[in-house]
Amino acid sequence: MDFINELLRNRRSIRRFKETKIENEKIELIKKAILMSPSGKRFNEWEFIFIDDKNILDQLSYCKEHGSELLRNAPLGIVVIADKNKSDIVIEDCSIASIIAQLAAESIGLGSCWVQCRLRKTADGKDSEDVVREILNIPDNYFVQSIIAIGYKDQDRKPFEDANLQWEKIHTNTF
Ligand SMILES: Cc1cc2nc3c(=O)[nH]c(=O)nc-3n(C[C@H](O)[C@H](O)[C@H](O)COP(=O)(O)O)c2cc1C
Repeated sequence: MDFINELLRNRRSIRRFKETKIENEKIELIKKAILMSPSGKRFNEWEFIFIDDKNILDQLSYCKEHGSELLRNAPLGIVVIADKNKSDIVIEDCSIASIIAQLAAESIGLGSCWVQCRLRKTADGKDSEDVVREILNIPDNYFVQSIIAIGYKDQDRKPFEDANLQWEKIHTNTF
């Protein structure tokens, strides 16, 4: 219980990363974690593209007008996609896998940030999902949820504090 509390308390979005390469064992652990993500009816329609090629990460960093530039200095990006023909709840399943990737990263001393692709546009108005599909040769029937940037943290973020949580958001028995 302490472990999950600590993990959640410390996970903050990290947008600046050190150059340090992520060890293969850590990448394997993240792969294992996302493959254990829950999915509706266990359809497992998600798929993940691990990107450590600087040139490709640079191209992806322009997939949105704002909020994707951090991919330029990330050592790893995980593109979370799903075959839309295999499930009608791809958004939910891909979102869960995305946060699991972030929490797994945090648990092994890495920082992460979610880069949203669905419903986003590039600076010149192209659909972000289309741009990512084109860069990575992803077929049209695949939905592109997010790119999770991961790496060793190069910034300090304050952990959450109990006293500052929005306790008013919690209701009991009725609204
Ligand atoms: C669904 C979702 C989409 C997000 N998209 C982006 C994004 O495109 N770019 C970015 O820099 N951060 C993105 N974030 C990170 C949020 O901005 C961040 O979680 C929020 O500001 C709270 O900060 P914290 O994660 O440090 O608690 C996203 C987070 C979520 C959950």
